[in-house]
Amino acid sequence: MDKVLVARAAFPDIVDRLHAHFEVDDNPEDRILAKPELIARLAGKRGAFITGSERIDAEVLDANPQLQAVCNMAVGFNNIDVAACTARGVIVTNTPDVLTETTADFGFALMMATARRIAESEHYLRRGEWTKWSYDQFVGPDVHGATLGILGMGRIGQAIARRGVKGFGMKLVYHNRSRLAPEIEADLGARYVDKATLLGESDHLVLVVPYSPASHHAIGAAELAQMKPSATLTNIARGGVVDDAALAIALKNRTIAAAGLDVFEGEPKVHPGLLEVPNVVLTPHIASASIATRRAMASLAVDNLIAALGHGPNAGRPPTPVNPQVLAR
Ligand code: DGY
Repeated sequence: MDKVLVARAAFPDIVDRLHAHFEVDDNPEDRILAKPELIARLAGKRGAFITGSERIDAEVLDANPQLQAVCNMAVGFNNIDVAACTARGVIVTNTPDVLTETTADFGFALMMATARRIAESEHYLRRGEWTKWSYDQFVGPDVHGATLGILGMGRIGQAIARRGVKGFGMKLVYHNRSRLAPEIEADLGARYVDKATLLGESDHLVLVVPYSPASHHAIGAAELAQMKPSATLTNIARGGVVDDAALAIALKNRTIAAAGLDVFEGEPKVHPGLLEVPNVVLTPHIASASIATRRAMASLAVDNLIAALGHGPNAGRPPTPVNPQVLAR
């Protein structure tokens, strides 16, 4: 029987489906496997179920030439060196689509919480500091009717855009590698702009761009300086898309009004400067964390692993490959 590694804990009833096809080495205590341990635990395994916390690079692959499938329980796959996998004939899969609406709900909620100062005012109330209603207490910018800016207009970006435009009457500007189809632009009243215009016009800028060397520090001190002082910034993309040190300074100096962050450079560590300022809402990478969606993500990753290693109804045809060219070989 083929052996597979389940590198992190996931819903046991879902992961149990692997037992019908494989000898499973799992991690029920859910420890993060440091690279040497990950390499050691992959020994003899043909496939791996991983999450964003495991990094699969050339060193890991070269130490495990028998590995044939790496199945990520995440839509983002910046934790995987896909080119190195493809060069070695290793199929990589991710979990798109199943998390789009849930992640968009969260992105919108985080943007609203940031604009309307929900976390900051809740902390104030819990500290027992609320003694009276005041006309200017925790006033912030409106969301309805404001200009929503989106950097990275993929599936999740479009789902956030729909919420803003259709639900909240927002005006929409966006920047992306490629433009939306004209009918989608027309439906959303979306205006495609260059990055400088996006920064300058957005009242609420939401980042949904995948992390890559090209998007590293896409928002740093220079970009923050181009935003309106009244603007908010929401990052549900990846740590590293924002220069967190520069953002902490911008929030302290009120270069922008506030930020909402679900992802961080070097997470789960958070830049200390961000912990010190009140005008930021911080959440621990939970944008996709509805029960149904996390179950759907785990299930899709399991389906991918079973199929990628030639089992089940989709044998040889994993539903959501990242590098399908490997399958064609
Ligand atoms: C993803 O799917 O990429 C998320 O960031 C993990 O929940």
